[in-house]
Amino acid sequence: MTALLTIEDLTVSFGTSAGRVKALNNVNLTLDEGQILCVVGESGSGKSTLALTIMGLLPQNSEIADGRITYRDIDLLRAGSEQMRDLRGREISLVFQNAQSALNPIEAIGPQLEEAILTHGNTSLRNANKMAEDMLYEMGMADPKRVMGQYSFALSGGMCQRVMMAMALVMRPKLLIADEPTSGLDVTLQAEILHRIRELVKEQNASVLLITHDMGVVAAMANDVGVIYAGNVVEDAGVVPLFRRPQHPYTWSLLQALPRIDEPGKRIEPLPGNPPDMIKLPAECPFLPRCFKAQNRCRTDPKPRLVEIEQGHMVACYNPVVPD
Ligand SMILES: Nc1ncnc2c1ncn2[C@@H]1O[C@H](COP(=O)(O)OP(=O)(O)O)[C@@H](O)[C@H]1O
Ligand SMILES: [Mg+2]
Repeated sequence: MTALLTIEDLTVSFGTSAGRVKALNNVNLTLDEGQILCVVGESGSGKSTLALTIMGLLPQNSEIADGRITYRDIDLLRAGSEQMRDLRGREISLVFQNAQSALNPIEAIGPQLEEAILTHGNTSLRNANKMAEDMLYEMGMADPKRVMGQYSFALSGGMCQRVMMAMALVMRPKLLIADEPTSGLDVTLQAEILHRIRELVKEQNASVLLITHDMGVVAAMANDVGVIYAGNVVEDAGVVPLFRRPQHPYTWSLLQALPRIDEPGKRIEPLPGNPPDMIKLPAECPFLPRCFKAQNRCRTDPKPRLVEIEQGHMVACYNPVVPD
């Protein structure tokens, strides 16, 4: 398979008055052409930082200490701002987690969508208007015409999310980065949006980096999965081995928390404890205080590196969950 996006040893931090937040630590991930890579982890684990770093949209107080991001043969971290703008306009689109603030507040929704369509395809304004309307309808808007005339501040968060999604999809990106695109939406709409993402992949051989905290979404969508904990990729595998033989205790715990169709009535056990303070990350494994597999070595040694435990299945753990 051909890699479309490769992330190597990416380390990103933010300066804050309380100290440096280490949002991503030596992250390695690969997204292949025509595939969906899900990045899953709890809130605060660095997922949105990853999306913004790829897009070249990190805020001023950030620092990329190390790493390389390669898209096709372009070194994204060293690309000029003009080239990045061009890529964002033509090939890579991001659905922001916070959709409302990503839309232009001084232009109505309709013209924003039409503009996106017009810069991409050889089509008339009239046709662009129709495409925009259809897309909004598909995203579950009962009255797309009315929405097209409105401004983002007048719409709810869920509505803005759907507008963003429509905008990302009409651009027919080669690479779609979707940051929790369905959180806060009802299940029917969530299913519809996930379906549209799968169609984009199938029909245009696009690749998707799908960010979520929901293992159910991972199961429904992913080819490959990167599990991220406190800014570290702790497990990286194909979706089938990951669900059948989760190796990292964190992944195992996330899967335990998932309701199962074959075990009705099973209680959903929330993961006990809290993630570590990202300003004072320990030298040892960050998952240690919450881990049911912890051994002495986990307390004394520096955090484990990702190693291949079976073909294509990487785990960063000294005492992985043994498959049954
Ligand atoms: N602009 C910022 N300034 C300071 N800290 C930030 C900023 N953005 C994110 N962070 C911190 O970086 C860490 C990772 O955040 P984020 O990438 O948003 O996580 P996630 O998307 O997984 O919830 C968190 O500790 C968060 O508070
Ligand atoms: Mg986020």
